Amino acid sequence: MTEKHNEGLLEEKRFFFPPTEFSAKAIIQNPNIHELGADRATFWNEQGRRLDWFKPWNTVLEWNPPFAKWYVGGKLNAAYNCLDRHLAGPRRNKAALIFEGELGDRRVLTYQDLYREVSQFANVLKSLDVEKGDRVTIYMPLIPETVIAMLACARIGAVHCVVFGGFSAEALKDRIQNSLSKVVVTTDGSYRRGNSIPLKANVDLALPVTCINNCVESVIVVKRTGQPVDMLEGRDVWYHEVMKNVSIVCPAEPMDAEDMLFILYTSGTTGKPKGVVHTVGGYMVGVSTTHEWVFDLKEEDVYWCTADVGWITGHSYLVYGPLSNGATILMYEGAPDFPEKDRYWKIIEDYRVTILYTAPTAIRTFMKWGESYPLGRDLSSLRLLGSVGEPINPEAWMWYNKFIGGEHCPIVDTWWQTETGMIMMTPVPGITPLKPGSCTIPFPGVHIEIVDHAGNPVPKGEGGYLVVREPWPAMLKTVYGDDKRYQDTYWSEIADVYFTGDEAKWDEDGYFWVVGRVDDVINVSGHRIGTAEVEGALVDHLLVAEAACVGRTHEVKGQAVFAFVSLKEGIEIYDGLIAELKAHVVQKIGALARPDDIFLTAELPKTRSGKIMRRLLKDIAEGRTIGDTTTLADAEVINFLKKNIDAQK
Ligand code: PRX
Repeated sequence: MTEKHNEGLLEEKRFFFPPTEFSAKAIIQNPNIHELGADRATFWNEQGRRLDWFKPWNTVLEWNPPFAKWYVGGKLNAAYNCLDRHLAGPRRNKAALIFEGELGDRRVLTYQDLYREVSQFANVLKSLDVEKGDRVTIYMPLIPETVIAMLACARIGAVHCVVFGGFSAEALKDRIQNSLSKVVVTTDGSYRRGNSIPLKANVDLALPVTCINNCVESVIVVKRTGQPVDMLEGRDVWYHEVMKNVSIVCPAEPMDAEDMLFILYTSGTTGKPKGVVHTVGGYMVGVSTTHEWVFDLKEEDVYWCTADVGWITGHSYLVYGPLSNGATILMYEGAPDFPEKDRYWKIIEDYRVTILYTAPTAIRTFMKWGESYPLGRDLSSLRLLGSVGEPINPEAWMWYNKFIGGEHCPIVDTWWQTETGMIMMTPVPGITPLKPGSCTIPFPGVHIEIVDHAGNPVPKGEGGYLVVREPWPAMLKTVYGDDKRYQDTYWSEIADVYFTGDEAKWDEDGYFWVVGRVDDVINVSGHRIGTAEVEGALVDHLLVAEAACVGRTHEVKGQAVFAFVSLKEGIEIYDGLIAELKAHVVQKIGALARPDDIFLTAELPKTRSGKIMRRLLKDIAEGRTIGDTTTLADAEVINFLKKNIDAQK
C-alpha cells in the first residue's frame, strides 16, 4: 500500500492507495461502482441473478416497515447454491474446504465430496423425522462436519441454530429451549491448546430440563477427540454409524425466498440473548455479492476466515458467502499459539493462503507476541487482508499492513453485525482509498447515516448514532418468536430507521469511523456480551445481592468486563471469593464472559429513584475523572469506590 501523507494533517487523515498491480487485476474496475447502488431496488434486483433460482422472484422488495420481504415469490435453496451448481463444470473437483486440525491432521473436501456428505447427512436428518421448518441446534468445534451439518439443514429446509462451542451448558440450554430444536448435533469433545473440551457432556447437562418440553428427540455425536462419552439409548447416535450406507441422493428442497435459513443468538441490552432470524433469499444474495466484491474473489484464491462458525462471521464469510461463490475455503480448528505462536503464519505458508480475514483482537495479540513470528514464515502468497468485529486501532492496522501484508495488500475493514447478516461498510479493494481505523464508506446499495437522537443526519465532521435508513437484502427479519422485540429493539429507538446500537462519526471526506456501542453491550475480543447477562449470572450466585457491569478499555481484547458486586447482608469476604464469582459466570455463560475485574462494594452508586449510575462506574473502571455526581442519592458511595478500587485490584 502506498501512503500519501499530507503534511500538517492529523494521523487519521492518511490515505493509503491500493497498489497499481492490485487495481489492474481487481474484479471491480468501475470507479463509480457506488453510484450503481444509488437505485437500490435495481441494484439488488441485478445482484439476485448471481444465484440459481428454482423459480424467479416477482418483486425484489416489499417494504412494510419494519418488516421487509426480499425477492418475493422466488424459490431457491442455499445448499444447492453452495454445492450442486458448482458440480457441472471444472469446480466439481476443486477443493471446497481445506481443513487443518489443531493436532496437525488434514482433510480436503472437493465440491463433489462436500455435496456427497451433505446429501447423506440431510438424509440422516430426514430419517430422524426432521422436516422443513424444524430447528436443529449445532454445538460443534470448527471441523468440516459443522459445515456439513449446516448445509444439510439448509438442503432440507430445516433451520439451523449454531451455538458457539465456548458457551456453557446453561447457555446452550437457553438456546435449545428458545428454538425448541428437535435435534442437536455435537461432538464428543473439541481440542483447545492440546486439551479436550467436553461438548457432549455439556449437551447432556443441557438436556434433562429441555426433555420436559420434549423438544430434543435425537442427539448426533461426531467422534472428534475420542474421549469417553455417555450415549443415551434411544436418543444419542454416532455420526459415523448413522452415515453408513445412506443414499447420496437428496434433492434440495425448493425454499421460499422468505423461508427461514437460520437463527443465531446474540446479546442485546436487556434480557436473554435474542434469536436473530435470517431468511434464504436476501441473505444469500447479500453474502454472495459482498463476499465476491469485498474480497476480490478469484477462482484460484485460497480464502481463510479465522472466525468460528458459531458467530455470524463464520456463517456469512466462512460458509454461505464463499461456498456460494465456489471458493476454496481454509478452516483451522485450533488456537493461534498451538503448538507455537506462528501457527497462523505456518498455515498461510503451507497452503499458500491468498486472502486472510481476521479480527483486530487477534492482530493486537500477534503484535504483542512480536513480528519475529510472521517474519519467520513466507507470507508472500497473501494479496488481501480483512478485519472485522470491532474498531481497528491505527497502530494495529499499520502492523497488519507491514508485517502480514508486506505493504502490498489492501486491508478491508468491514463493519457489520449479526443482524445485518452481510458486510455493510467496507472499502471496495482496488477502488476505495483506505484510512487506517476507518471502515471507509457503505457498500453499494446500502444506505447508512449518522444521526442525532431525533433522527436528523449530522453534518460531516460530527458524530452521532449509526443507523441504516433503508432495508437491505441480508437484514434480519425478526427476533425469533418475538416480532415486538424486533420492532422495539431495532426500529423504535430512533424513528423510521434501523438503529445499530453503535456510535460513529464521519469526516470531511465522508469516511465513517465507528466508535463503539452506545448500549449496554460490551465488545470483548469482538464478541458481544450483554451486561445484563453477566449481571444475571453474578446475582445468581448465592452470596450476591446486586451486580453492575461495564466495559473497560483493554489493550488486546478491545474491552473487558468490569463488575461491581455487593454481597448479601452479613456475608464476610473470604479468600477465593472473587475467583469463585468469576467461575460462576463461566459456568452460567462461558469463558468469553469471565469478568477481568470484580470489585466488591457495600453499595452501588444509584440515583434517588434507585437506578444504578453506570456512567460513573465506567469512569471508575477506566480510571478517569468522575463525571457529574449531582443526581446521586449518596455521594459517599462513589468516593468510597474511587478510594478503594486500586487497593482491592
Ligand atoms: O460495535 C460493532 C462491532 O461489532 C458489533 C456487531 O457485533 P456482532 O453482531 O457480534 O458481529 C460481529 C461481526 C460482524 C457492531 O455493532 N463491529 C463489527 N465490525 C466492526 C465493528 N466495529 C468497528 N469496526 C468494525 N469493522
